[in-house]
Amino acid sequence: MIKIPLGPTYEEMLHPSLLDQELKARAKKARHDELDPMNLFNITWKDDQDHVHKIVLPKAMTGVDANIVVMLGTYFPSGSHKVGPAYATLIEGCVDGEIIPGKHTILGPSTGNFGIGVSYICHLMNLDAIVIMPDNMSKERYERIQKYGAKLDLTPGTESDVILTLQRTYELKKNPNYRSLAQFELLPNYRFHRHVTGHSAVEAIKGIGNERIAAFVSAPGSAGTLAAGDHIKKVFPEAKIVALEPYECSTLTNGGRGQHRIEGIGDKMCTLIHNVLTTDFITMIEDEETVRGLKIIHDAPHILEFYGVSHEDALKMKDLFGVSTICNIIGAIKMAKYLKLGEGDNVVTIATDGFDRYDSVIKDLNRRVLETEDFVLKRWFKDIFLKADTENIEDVRSKEKKERLFLQKEHDWLVFGYEKAYLDQMKHMDFWDHEYEKVFSYDEKIKKNRGKTL
Ligand SMILES: Cc1ncc(COP(=O)(O)O)c(C=O)c1O
Repeated sequence: MIKIPLGPTYEEMLHPSLLDQELKARAKKARHDELDPMNLFNITWKDDQDHVHKIVLPKAMTGVDANIVVMLGTYFPSGSHKVGPAYATLIEGCVDGEIIPGKHTILGPSTGNFGIGVSYICHLMNLDAIVIMPDNMSKERYERIQKYGAKLDLTPGTESDVILTLQRTYELKKNPNYRSLAQFELLPNYRFHRHVTGHSAVEAIKGIGNERIAAFVSAPGSAGTLAAGDHIKKVFPEAKIVALEPYECSTLTNGGRGQHRIEGIGDKMCTLIHNVLTTDFITMIEDEETVRGLKIIHDAPHILEFYGVSHEDALKMKDLFGVSTICNIIGAIKMAKYLKLGEGDNVVTIATDGFDRYDSVIKDLNRRVLETEDFVLKRWFKDIFLKADTENIEDVRSKEKKERLFLQKEHDWLVFGYEKAYLDQMKHMDFWDHEYEKVFSYDEKIKKNRGKTL
């Protein structure tokens, strides 16, 4: 007997207004108690008025005429949008009968936010979970995972050592009672972002500029978020999809595999679920700039005000961003300049999480840098944001560049037992469209079986 957990469909995550009144009211009430399972129905980009949580960055900060619209992931239950793919992968597994609550333990290979999402979702759905992650990430991440009750299985290293978590998961999966929510490989991650994030991005720019999206910029970890670009391109064919990676770990640009400080991204691979066909540019961002940029926004709103950002905007942004958000913001500014975007054009990017998991990262920066007087922060602000340049941007639209990315994917995934024939299917848009279409059949199954014992 399998009890299918309660939870929303893809369409309900996109449009929570579709929930019936009773469910909606219970979900709203659950916002006050993080551990109330009804929070599953709060997995959405939308607020109670059905508007996407977002902020349009002040131009005094970006220095460009284009609008840079940042969608805010911090309002998702557990504090990051990564809870969405974690839920999608789990619920698909449940309705397919692959995951049996009460029987299977869930594995979540991650560098943090996905692990937090897995541990949170498993707590709400009453499943045991093990999060496999590197042992050198920000301490706030481990604290949250443990708070939600998952066990930690730590592998050596940092963000760029995520391959070790995959190898560990590969070994653990040999236990028939374990089921992995493999974010780098499984397509519910793609489906969640193409459907829920992609449509939400299109809604987010309503009433802003020319109401089109000229570029979507996102730094891939699993590359799930980038899948929003596949929907954006269907609606706005001119939109450019931009993947960012750390300058220090330039795997997609040139196979580089160094250590870096941008937690959540730059995992030394081309992930299996990365649709490289729709990635137009790869842009490298220096990791130290992202940490310094976050420090200014969080610790020194008066520096933003000095450069003309309003007091209200400076305070509003203080807690909304994490390190990878600053990477995305710098990338968005660089691309607005590179693409020569002007007034009325919109660039959409993402804040996967907020400041709540980066206090230790800023403390570490303070220890490393020592001099953080206002005159230093003013120089940082100018150099990082206003003077962001158009260096380190690679156009990957040509056939040769796609071929190189396909080869990278083969190099990264044949070792995990995937067939070349399967990877070859991913060279065609049909593969991705077909996978996306499954959203609708899964929605039917989720709705039909919600809360039922099968
Ligand atoms: C902080 C942060 N930023 C960005 C990302 C990248 O998102 P995605 O895995 O969808 O590419 C992640 C993923 O875990 C993350 O934790």
